[in-house]
Amino acid sequence: MRNMIPGWIRVPVLFLIVVGITEYFIDSGKQFAFIEYPILQLVLLVALLFLISAEIIVDAVENTMFKTLAPDAKERYMLEKQKRAEKYSLNRWFKQMTYAQPEERDLELDHNYDGIKELDNKLPPWWLYSFYLTIIFAFGYMAYYHIFDGDTQLTEFEKEMASAQIAVEEYKKNAPDLVDAESVVVLTDAADIEKGNALYQINCMACHAADGGGGIGPNLTDELWILGGGIKNIFHTISEGGRAGKGMIAWKSTLSPSEIQQVSSYILTLEGTTPANPKVAEGDVWSEE
Ligand code: HEC
Repeated sequence: MRNMIPGWIRVPVLFLIVVGITEYFIDSGKQFAFIEYPILQLVLLVALLFLISAEIIVDAVENTMFKTLAPDAKERYMLEKQKRAEKYSLNRWFKQMTYAQPEERDLELDHNYDGIKELDNKLPPWWLYSFYLTIIFAFGYMAYYHIFDGDTQLTEFEKEMASAQIAVEEYKKNAPDLVDAESVVVLTDAADIEKGNALYQINCMACHAADGGGGIGPNLTDELWILGGGIKNIFHTISEGGRAGKGMIAWKSTLSPSEIQQVSSYILTLEGTTPANPKVAEGDVWSEE
């Protein structure tokens, strides 16, 4: 076995097998094991050095044994070695792969049309073998997609989008509320408005009336605002509370930012509606400049 294959092939192959074994048996998730566990790099390096030194030692032993051989045995041995070296010579292999017809003249076929002649060149072997490889590949490809119904790019895309969607939902669930009075925007989703309405009926109707007509707190259905209209001001008022002593507390300790955003958006839908007992308008007309 050792005599069949030269060291420059054997060492890398054995090393790759060692790497393959570690990757197979060490569970490192999606990452390569030697990246997940840097200590493994050291182990692999030692393994590589071991392979190389084993190679050198065996060579040295062979050398010493060679010296003890009789002259004719030495000759036979050298010849054998020579042959082996040739068999695995890159040079030879390169020549084989790029083999070209030496004399095109000899290849000429009997086809001659108005002086245009036909040649019968052999295909360069590297080209031919690559062509065979594409045929083998085509079988694999056909089997994967058409017999075993492998994922097409479209299904792969859809699967990835679906799992990304789940990840986004998961993130939103766990992420802290990121809206504040600066970044807040009006929500128009029916579900958000509904949620805002529910929050309003629980927390706010006592002072602002169920339909926003007002009571202890001001009327929320007109276009006049004491503390400023528009989503940003409303968000700010609810979050931080009204003027001291008026009765409107800061809700930021009770409601999450996104809940405040929902109830603010709900309040904006009240503008222009006609409440049953509207409180007299207070404040100024507010317009977004
Ligand atoms: C205890 C009574 C009370 C409760 C409960 C209450 N508010 Fe108020 N709210 C007021 C008062 C009083 C004011 C006026 C504050 C001022 O003049 O500074 C006000 C002001 C406001 C304003 C500003 C109105 C303007 O004209 O600028 C908004 C918006 C508002 N409240 C929303 C809410 C929301 C939303 C809730 C429920 C989460 C709520 N309020 C709960 C009493 C209350």
